[in-house]
Amino acid sequence: MSLLENIKREYIELVKEVSDEKSLYELKVKFLGKKGQLTEVMKRAKDLAPEERPAFGKSVNEIKNYINQSIEETRKEIEERALELKLANEEIDVTLPSKKIELGGVNPLNKIIEEIEEIFISMGYSVAEGPEVETDKFNFEMLNLPKDHPARDMQDSFYITDELLMRTQTSPVQAREMLKANGRGPVKIICPGKVFRRDNDDATHSHQFTQIEGLVVDKNITFSDLKGTLEHFIQAIFGENKKIRLRPSFFPFTEPSVEVDVSWGNEDDEENIKWLEILGAGMVHPNVLKMAGFDPELYTGFAFGMGPERVAMLKYGISDIRNFYTNNIRFLKQFNSDRND
Ligand code: PHE
Repeated sequence: MSLLENIKREYIELVKEVSDEKSLYELKVKFLGKKGQLTEVMKRAKDLAPEERPAFGKSVNEIKNYINQSIEETRKEIEERALELKLANEEIDVTLPSKKIELGGVNPLNKIIEEIEEIFISMGYSVAEGPEVETDKFNFEMLNLPKDHPARDMQDSFYITDELLMRTQTSPVQAREMLKANGRGPVKIICPGKVFRRDNDDATHSHQFTQIEGLVVDKNITFSDLKGTLEHFIQAIFGENKKIRLRPSFFPFTEPSVEVDVSWGNEDDEENIKWLEILGAGMVHPNVLKMAGFDPELYTGFAFGMGPERVAMLKYGISDIRNFYTNNIRFLKQFNSDRND
């Protein structure tokens, strides 16, 4: 019995030192394991007188239970301490300033395209798109530019094969949309998109740029409809005080054709107004109507084409077209100050 007392006392001393799961396990083995102290002590029961054995067995069991329970409690304490330590280490200081997450913004070119779309949508137009890799047929022939037509030289093209090229203008979308209408009006669309020309890139030229094409085909569409539409558009985008001026020009797919200028300064002084060229336009050529399945005796139409880069450059005072494509964050941020502050 005094041996049992000693075992218990020894356990109580040792368990005080235990501070992790591993040494707790070792302690358990030392006392309760197959070769543990209590197992060994049990073997001595046979040396006792038979009447002493039950009391001895009972005491051994009590100590076993005591040690088992104590080990479980100690394990819990160790776990709790580990958790507390972990929580203390991982404490989050919510008063620290946060990392700034930069938001992306809309490129000013896309902004102006959206703005132009809105203006025309409010006049009842819908937005159409066409392929950037285009056939010679739609890029030129359907627009009254047969093969070997000298006006093809106006637009230096990237040919992929004899019949396929990167579209040089958004005008082929006109032809595609007219064909879809099966010879019946009205057609009233704008077509924004990328176009490609063999130009050397500089401040005002890019081998890839964007255009927005406009087309209206219906009965009784006249030149004055074109003029009124463009005047409304120019004033909506640049300001009420803007005036437009039309100069005769040439495009193979329109007749008559005009180049459109916008006043840029001295608007109140008729004599000294300054003008900047902004778009090309005209009445849809009867050949173009015919090829796209419209009867030119019944239907007339107007078309116009503009470069959104030029519109944005004038509107925002941007001097280099390459700014739209080179993703200089400091340039782009100026157009999204509302998002990044
Ligand atoms: N497609 C012409 C160009 O790129 C512009 C234009 C479109 C002119 C529609 C008249 C009518 O030069």
